[in-house]
Amino acid sequence: MNEILLHIDHREVKARQGMTVLEAAISADIVIPTLCHHEKLEPYGGCRLCTVEVASNGRSKLVAACVYPVEENLVVRTRTDKVDRIRKMILELLLAHAPDAFDLQQLAKEYGADKNRFEKETSFCIHCGLCVRYCAEVKQKHAVGFVDRGTHKEISFVPSIAAEECWQCRECFPLCPTEALQAAYVLSTALFAGNIKKEE
Ligand code: SF4
Ligand code: FES
Repeated sequence: MNEILLHIDHREVKARQGMTVLEAAISADIVIPTLCHHEKLEPYGGCRLCTVEVASNGRSKLVAACVYPVEENLVVRTRTDKVDRIRKMILELLLAHAPDAFDLQQLAKEYGADKNRFEKETSFCIHCGLCVRYCAEVKQKHAVGFVDRGTHKEISFVPSIAAEECWQCRECFPLCPTEALQAAYVLSTALFAGNIKKEE
């Protein structure tokens, strides 16, 4: 397999063709923050928190490291002023949805994000898709999915599948950067239990 040499934060990093910038950084112990990435899942590029600045052929641009492929001689900067400003803004927007999420609060401290900058629209789920994709791609059960679109988008368990599969599994729970997943699960199992009682 072709070996590629790139530069991340002034370090030479060796990568394989087909790797993403995030994978190359991880292999060199360089930390890039992520919210929707999981090593077992297909690249998604949803949260944009992994934004980095890349330069090649004299041109620089901002890209999502988790979906951007490595290139020979690519120069990557993971903490420029521009990058930090974007991450701060993303965190402030997400905190308007999930102000109490521990992971977001930790990142907010690092990037100086103000959780009160935007009007609160608490929905708890930040639409990272980790639960939905993990259940579909790794477990191949499709017990949880998104319903609705735009600002009304939320996750929902399919009660009949969840009743069969989730009780034993729950592998998606620790993936959620907020409390939304557990809350939705508890709600859906309660509703499902209620339906069973009604049918009896
Ligand atoms: S419930 Fe949690 S893991 Fe699932 S999409 Fe929302 S934030 Fe992500
Ligand atoms: S981790 Fe790259 S877009 Fe979410």
